[in-house]
Amino acid sequence: MRIVAASDRAPPGGEPGFASARAPRGAGSICEVSDRVGDDQLRAEIAAHPWYHTLELRPGIETPGWFDLRGIIELVPLPGSLVGKRCLDVGTFDGFWAFEMERRGAEEVVAIDVLDPSRWDWPAGSDDAVITAINARKAGGVGFELTSRELGSAVQRRPLSVYELDPDEIGQFDHIYLGSLLLHLRDPVLALERVCGVCSGTLIVCDAIDAAMTAVFRKRAVAHLDGRGRPWWWKPNLAGLVRMVEAAGFETISPPVRLRMPPGAGHPKPILRPRSFRSQIGRVETMRAWRGDPHAIVYARPRVGPQAAGS
Ligand SMILES: C[S@@+](CC[C@H](N)C(=O)[O-])C[C@H]1O[C@@H](n2cnc3c(N)ncnc32)[C@H](O)[C@@H]1O
Repeated sequence: MRIVAASDRAPPGGEPGFASARAPRGAGSICEVSDRVGDDQLRAEIAAHPWYHTLELRPGIETPGWFDLRGIIELVPLPGSLVGKRCLDVGTFDGFWAFEMERRGAEEVVAIDVLDPSRWDWPAGSDDAVITAINARKAGGVGFELTSRELGSAVQRRPLSVYELDPDEIGQFDHIYLGSLLLHLRDPVLALERVCGVCSGTLIVCDAIDAAMTAVFRKRAVAHLDGRGRPWWWKPNLAGLVRMVEAAGFETISPPVRLRMPPGAGHPKPILRPRSFRSQIGRVETMRAWRGDPHAIVYARPRVGPQAAGS
C-alpha cells in the first residue's frame, strides 16, 4: 500500500443563489492504492468502460466521470471524522460517497445499488433501446469494483433496492448519504421512509431540483412529473424536496443548500451556439451540461415524538 495525495480542484463557477465550494486537498480522492497493476494497465482498464464518478485512483490518473463531485464536497455536511460510525451510501454507482465515508474513518460502510438497470423504476411503454443504452452506461457496476480494488477498500456493496431496506436484516446506520436517486424513483417518499427505518443518526439527501419552479414557488411544494420512456420521475422544487424528506418521517437539521452538480470530463458538452439559447429548453440543457445539474442538499434526522414515522 502507498498513500497518494489528491488534486486540488477548482469548483464550478459561482452563480447567484447557488453555493459553491473549493475542494480541500485530499478530499474525494482515493488515498490508499494497491500496486497490483501498472499505471498503463490501470489507464486501459479505466478507458474500457464509462464512468459516472470522477475518482483519482492514483496521482494524475482519474476516471472520466459524468460528474465530478469533488467540487461540492465542502457543501456536504458529512462529519470530517466518521471514526467508529456505521454508514450507508444509497445508490452508490462508482462509489464516490461510499469510499469518501471510508476515507473519513467509518468503521463500516455499506453501499447498496441496483446493478441491473432493467430493475429500476421504468414507466410503462419504455423503449428497450433506452434500457440497453443505460445498461451500457451502468456497465454492471465494474467502476465500483475497479476502484475498490485500487483502494484496497472494505466497503461492502450489496445488490439491494432502497425499497428493500429492512432494519431487521441490514441494521441501523449512524450516517446515510442518498444522492441523485429520488429523481429516478416512482415513489421517492416510500424510498425515504425505508431509509428512515434504518437511520439512527443523520441523513444527507442531495437530489435534483427544478430550478425554474424553485424560483416561482418559493414556499409551495410542487414537482414536475416526467415518467415518459425513461426512469426519470419527479423533479420537485426546493420546497418539494424538503417536503418529501419531512413526509417520510425526518426533520431537517439545517436550511437546505442549493448547488449545481459539477459535470466531469466524461459529461457530453453541446457546442455553444446562439440558437442553443433561443428556447427555454435549450437554455436549461446547455446550462445543465456546462454549469451542472441543479440539485439541493437536505440534511435531516428521524423525527421523534408524536409526528414520528409509524406513530
Ligand atoms: C444517478 S446515480 C447517482 C449515484 C450516486 N448516488 C451519486 O450521488 O452520485 C443513481 C444510482 O441509483 C441506483 N439505483 C437506481 N434505482 C435504485 C433503487 N431502487 N435502489 C437503490 N439504488 C438504485 C443506480 O443504479 C445508480 O447507481
